[in-house]
Amino acid sequence: MTTNMAQDGSMFAVTAAKISLVFLIFPNLSYQDIGRIDLNGVWLASNGGGDINLNGTVPGCIHTDLMAAGRIGDPYFRFNDVAYRWVAKENWSYSRQFSVPEDLLKHKEIVLVCEGLDTVATVTVNGHNVGQSNNMFRRYTFDIKPVLQSGVNTIQVTFQSAIKYAAEKNMSHAEYMVPPDCPPAVQKGECHPNFIRKEQCSFSWDWGPAFATQGIWKNISIQAYDSAVIRDVHVTPKKGDGKTTLWLIDVTVYMDVSKAAKPPITGLVSAQLQGFPTLFVKNNVKLKSPSDRLTLTLNVSSQFKVESWWPAGYGKQMLYKVGVTFVSTDTGEVSAKLVKTGLRTVELVQEPIKGSPGLSFYFKINNVPIFLKGSNWIPVDAFKNRITTAYTRYLLQSAVDANMNTLRVWGGGIYEHDDVYDIADELGIMIWQDFMFACAMYPVDDDFLGNVREEIQQQVVRIGNHPSVIAWSGNNENEAALAANWYGTDNTTQLHALYREDYVKLYVNVTMATVWSLDKSRPNITSSPSNGKETEKENWVAKNPYDHHYGDVHYYNYVSDCWDWTKFPKTRFASEYGFQSWPSFHTLKKVSTADDWTLDSDFNDHRQHHQDGDVQMLDQAKFHFALPTGDDPVQQYEDSIYLSQVVQAMCIKTQTEFYRRSRSEIIGGKGHTMGALYWQLNDIWQGPTWSSLEYGGRWKMLQYYAAKFFAPVMTVIFEDGEQLKVYVVSDLTTKLSQVNLQVQVWTWSSFKPLKSWAKTFDMEGSSASMIFNQTTAEFLKDAKCTKREACFITSGLLDSKQKPYGPTNSYFLTPLKSALGLAKVNVTVSKITLLPDAPKPGAPNALQVELKTTGPAPFVWLDSGDVEGRFSDNGFLMNVDTLALQFYPLQSVKAPDFEKEVRVLSLMDIYRK
Ligand SMILES: *[C@@H]1O[C@H](CO)[C@@H](O)[C@H](O)[C@H]1NC(C)=O
Ligand SMILES: *[C@@H]1O[C@H](CO)[C@@H](O)[C@H](O)[C@H]1NC(C)=O
Ligand SMILES: *[C@@H]1O[C@H](CO)[C@@H](O)[C@H](O)[C@H]1NC(C)=O
Ligand SMILES: *[C@@H]1O[C@H](CO)[C@@H](O)[C@H](O)[C@H]1NC(C)=O
Ligand SMILES: *[C@@H]1O[C@H](CO)[C@@H](O)[C@H](O)[C@H]1NC(C)=O
Ligand SMILES: *[C@@H]1O[C@H](CO)[C@@H](O)[C@H](O)[C@H]1NC(C)=O
Ligand SMILES: *[C@@H]1O[C@H](CO)[C@@H](O)[C@H](O)[C@H]1NC(C)=O
Repeated sequence: MTTNMAQDGSMFAVTAAKISLVFLIFPNLSYQDIGRIDLNGVWLASNGGGDINLNGTVPGCIHTDLMAAGRIGDPYFRFNDVAYRWVAKENWSYSRQFSVPEDLLKHKEIVLVCEGLDTVATVTVNGHNVGQSNNMFRRYTFDIKPVLQSGVNTIQVTFQSAIKYAAEKNMSHAEYMVPPDCPPAVQKGECHPNFIRKEQCSFSWDWGPAFATQGIWKNISIQAYDSAVIRDVHVTPKKGDGKTTLWLIDVTVYMDVSKAAKPPITGLVSAQLQGFPTLFVKNNVKLKSPSDRLTLTLNVSSQFKVESWWPAGYGKQMLYKVGVTFVSTDTGEVSAKLVKTGLRTVELVQEPIKGSPGLSFYFKINNVPIFLKGSNWIPVDAFKNRITTAYTRYLLQSAVDANMNTLRVWGGGIYEHDDVYDIADELGIMIWQDFMFACAMYPVDDDFLGNVREEIQQQVVRIGNHPSVIAWSGNNENEAALAANWYGTDNTTQLHALYREDYVKLYVNVTMATVWSLDKSRPNITSSPSNGKETEKENWVAKNPYDHHYGDVHYYNYVSDCWDWTKFPKTRFASEYGFQSWPSFHTLKKVSTADDWTLDSDFNDHRQHHQDGDVQMLDQAKFHFALPTGDDPVQQYEDSIYLSQVVQAMCIKTQTEFYRRSRSEIIGGKGHTMGALYWQLNDIWQGPTWSSLEYGGRWKMLQYYAAKFFAPVMTVIFEDGEQLKVYVVSDLTTKLSQVNLQVQVWTWSSFKPLKSWAKTFDMEGSSASMIFNQTTAEFLKDAKCTKREACFITSGLLDSKQKPYGPTNSYFLTPLKSALGLAKVNVTVSKITLLPDAPKPGAPNALQVELKTTGPAPFVWLDSGDVEGRFSDNGFLMNVDTLALQFYPLQSVKAPDFEKEVRVLSLMDIYRK
């Protein structure tokens, strides 16, 4: 059936010729369908009682509409999340009028296309019920032809409180409980999010508030046609034989077919790879069912000079557009869509490893094994309409700037906006995509499963075009919850068997079966964490889903000293691990008042959504530091914020370095770690959380540390019993040759090392290797360092031209609270100059900040005050007397204005008494 025009060169059919001409002449042809009425814009929003009426924004949500109308203040301010609980308990409706030209009514088919309704709603047009929704992750298409009239029409979308709906659904599920009922009290959340297909964390999480929004959160429009329209296009490239065929690109076209036009409908479907006019495929089709689908295959033969898509750090991010058109034979009606794709292969390798029980767990992109470095992504805001493309880009760019190549879109949030995947494609960020189920059991009645099936199908098709997406994963921690009885699901054998059966039904038989039927081009995993293939063998619920010999692991431990690497699991793949810190005082100030700025304030307590979170942060700090001292409680609050960021950065540094240096070795049957994704990249609001980027985008100290511990080539210093060891880690695919490792011993009282050790070596790419191995005691003795408490170690690399290569690293031989000779020093900004260049075309000019210090200083922290932007480095150990750094402002700033704002602090400054 499928003819590849590029190969057979035969004559086009008349309609196809017209189309191909359009392609050739207008390569940027707009692929928007004609016959559309856009309904986005200002609507009337009203509550159920009808006593509140205000302008509503579409796309948008009720909370931001109420805020814009002055009915409520900033929902993130102080205790407003609790004060505005009533908003989510009301039912809200959105209505508007729109006008329909007589002409439009002549079309055989007229549908209302709702890209996203949040969540439980009834839609009426001119008072007639046209459809219902109960899943915010689905697109709904309702037939409105019978009720539409020429001239003025009215549409109303009546939402029901998501919280009340979830509670009712739980009540009516009488046969057995589907736990958990409610989140822990500390989260100040709402109950039973598992009973509604809505962003699970909108009912609260341990890092976020409960704002169970209502509204039309995505585009809404009317579409009229006579024969059939392309609803979706799903492009999945497969590698060809490599000789005559480079790639086979499957283009699956999902058609909505008019019932009124009395199918079958005949027409011509064609697909083309843009930029390659002769790379074209067409297919005569006979569409029968109301939602028909067909697949064309673009055969990219070796004559076409296409390039592969690569993750950041491995090559270019080449993207191609595939244009698809449908032309109806009878009416000549055209429907067209343009989608972006990239050409790459992805493989999840799970095979035996010599010397280790279990299986490997690592990703290969274009056949290259890649260590996945990065973090976990949560929803960017409780109110999605506040998220701009620019801010999304800023967050993702921050990830790349910190040398990340992967983010996991976590399963308790949303299937992200197109922006996230588009920008990830452009920047080379690989996405581990969870399906939206997290930390709960779920009901599995037929309605629920049918709803989920539709959701999965739509999301796989939408998200699955993106080369950045490298894996589908069924849920967050639900296998673990079942295996380890988090929710009392194994108190009787029968109940436990039932919960297991429900689990398999939902994730294996519905979710993964749907994925598998649509997309075999990327790996699928049923849960995170899981044991991968071993989980499958154990009937999808492994005895221990955290087994270090299989799959991925989540690991949190706030009790042990986090500088002790022996406490961390030597796993194949660490997909979650983390520690909390407070966001900067600047960020907190925006949502608080002066009364709130103490550690024991109600506000500070209110924003902590994790049980004992503050105690854990301070206890972890106490392993290595004295807590801040001073008479001013506000100052102490600020100092504690700083210290919490130091502790978080050091903990995650230690753990991540352990994972990176474990990539090439098996010790005690464990190792070959090939992934480190810490929890969590971004924040949904201003509060103490595990994030490295604050709400608003400010970099915490951890984000600066990530740039170094994720650097492509880096060194790691650690002690293994009596031995002091330095590993060199390289993610480069090429060999390191004639590189020089320097290891130095320092005291706190001099800018000169006591001892320098150096060695020139070669090392294979994609590996970690021990280059330095000496007894700590002997090495310090050689350096004439009499007590380990008095010294610290640094390491760094020089390239073959003796230039610094990669970041320098440091290692404290002792908790800094017991360091000898560590004194209060004076770190000051000596000069600020506006640089002639911008870091990037179009960006504001950078500033140069020169620092000087009267002695070695740990954790030097530059604070840009109210000027938004970031430094080239921060939180560093300063063991030279002068240093120059750059500051990259978000908006242009003059040197004298910046000088007024900038502050510098180092560890000993927080001891003010
Ligand atoms: C909200 O709508 C539901 C379902 O229509 C109804 O049962 C409930 O009484 C309404 N609540 C309010 C506060 O209007
Ligand atoms: C509501 O929106 C309309 C249309 O944009 C505008 O004219 C009107 O001023 C708005 N009303 C309020 C109270 O903001
Ligand atoms: C067992 O757990 C289920 C679900 O959490 C609960 O409904 C039931 O009351 C529990 N039974 C016992 C005996 O604890
Ligand atoms: C899942 O599907 C398989 C294969 O169709 C079937 O054998 C099994 O009973 C199903 N399991 C559940 C729990 O529905
Ligand atoms: C992906 O799904 C298919 C079908 O359920 C299954 O056979 C395969 O093992 C899955 N792959 C992984 C890695 O889970
Ligand atoms: C490191 O050095 C110690 C002491 O010389 C030695 O016993 C050990 O085998 C070395 N480790 C490696 C991995 O070479
Ligand atoms: C630190 O340096 C500043 C600027 O040079 C100076 O004003 C201040 O007195 C110094 N403080 C101490 C404690 O040395």
